[in-house]
Amino acid sequence: MFRKRPSLLILLMFSAVLLFGTADGAWLAKVPASDHQKTNPYEGQPDAIAAGRKVFEEHCTKCHGQNAQGVKKRPSLRTERIQQQATVGDLHWLLVNGSMKRGMPSWAKLPDPQLWQLVTYLKSLHE
Ligand code: HEC
Repeated sequence: MFRKRPSLLILLMFSAVLLFGTADGAWLAKVPASDHQKTNPYEGQPDAIAAGRKVFEEHCTKCHGQNAQGVKKRPSLRTERIQQQATVGDLHWLLVNGSMKRGMPSWAKLPDPQLWQLVTYLKSLHE
């Protein structure tokens, strides 16, 4: 079966890499200083948090979970890394660029205001 379908084997191996690779925040080191320092035009605004939650439910829950708690090896976004360590500029950069090799898609197709709404929502999750 595998000899006839080598692509299936490759797919299985690829999924294994995705499933067993852990999110270690390596992407943070790639963010250019100019992006790192960006400010969020919607900082803390309740409307933006609500709008961001909607966008999150539409595009992100299948991997990060209904409450951003993570799904299997897809990371929780309620961690110290996302809530404390990463700046809003870092999060915005990751949404634009993704972390493709590790299975995080780019969201550059979404309008920029929606990306900032997502960032506002994410930063509202610390307890
Ligand atoms: C197809 C699955 C998938 C979807 C859909 C997805 N992500 Fe991710 N996301 C991942 C994976 C896998 C990682 C880990 C990437 C890494 O470690 O480099 C990740 C990492 C992240 C991180 C950094 C987490 C950390 O601790 O380093 C943030 C923030 C994030 N995603 C936000 C989002 C948002 C917001 C959306 C929706 C617009 C989204 N993701 C949609 C799979 C996904």
